[in-house]
Amino acid sequence: MNHLGTVELGTARLRLRRFQNGDADSCLRNWAGNGRVFQFISQTPMAPADMAAFLAGAEDAYAALTTYYWAVEEKESREVIGEIFVDDFSERNGWCELDYKLGPAFWRRGYAVEAARAVAAFLFDCVGFHRIQAKCSVQNAASEGVMQKMGMRQEGVLRSHFLRKDGLGYDDVVLYALLRNEASTKYGAPNPGGKYSACPPSGV
Ligand SMILES: CC(C)(COP(=O)(O)OP(=O)(O)OC[C@H]1O[C@@H](n2cnc3c(N)ncnc32)[C@H](O)[C@@H]1OP(=O)(O)O)[C@@H](O)C(=O)NCCC(=O)NCCS
Repeated sequence: MNHLGTVELGTARLRLRRFQNGDADSCLRNWAGNGRVFQFISQTPMAPADMAAFLAGAEDAYAALTTYYWAVEEKESREVIGEIFVDDFSERNGWCELDYKLGPAFWRRGYAVEAARAVAAFLFDCVGFHRIQAKCSVQNAASEGVMQKMGMRQEGVLRSHFLRKDGLGYDDVVLYALLRNEASTKYGAPNPGGKYSACPPSGV
């Protein structure tokens, strides 16, 4: 594995970059403070103090080359409209798990798939993971739609895996994954020295 940390990635409409101290207002306004974003996930909306703590912690977290945690900035407005990150990975087994959130005003424009494809290309071709997985509650049709549209295949259902927000029961969770050899990615194969010359340099 060739860990590179959270290096900046670009797509046609998005800039995927590190969170910065000045991001608090746009994050809270666009997504982090909005209850709709957290309907099917265990986290809860952030208050300004939570956001300040998150941004302060991000600085330290970015020192690790194994941190893959991007702010999603819309190029046109320069607003931070969400986040996309690796929330778990196995060094030994070469897999990682992807997570993402966007603010409701930006839903259904193809942004999540656009971001996820760019991150997947980077994780496969530059870092060297061979499998990227994701999971969500069966109620979370939008998240499952992202997994399907980025080419992931459903592998199974984890029964009663997610305690619902109302605390009154458990949802089943679907597990999806995409393998490197199934993905058509952007950066190409490593050269004979094992380096990915077309990949961005380490962010640290
Ligand atoms: C999941 C989320 C990031 C999707 O963002 P998005 O930018 O709207 O997704 P996209 O526009 O790329 O949509 C991709 C596909 O998913 C499906 N989809 C998206 N929203 C959907 C919805 N509300 N209902 C059903 N399918 C949906 C569609 O197939 C869509 O493709 P199409 O618009 O061409 O038909 C966004 O809804 C979100 O932030 N939700 C709250 C946080 C969350 O639950 N994150 C996932 C944690 S597991």
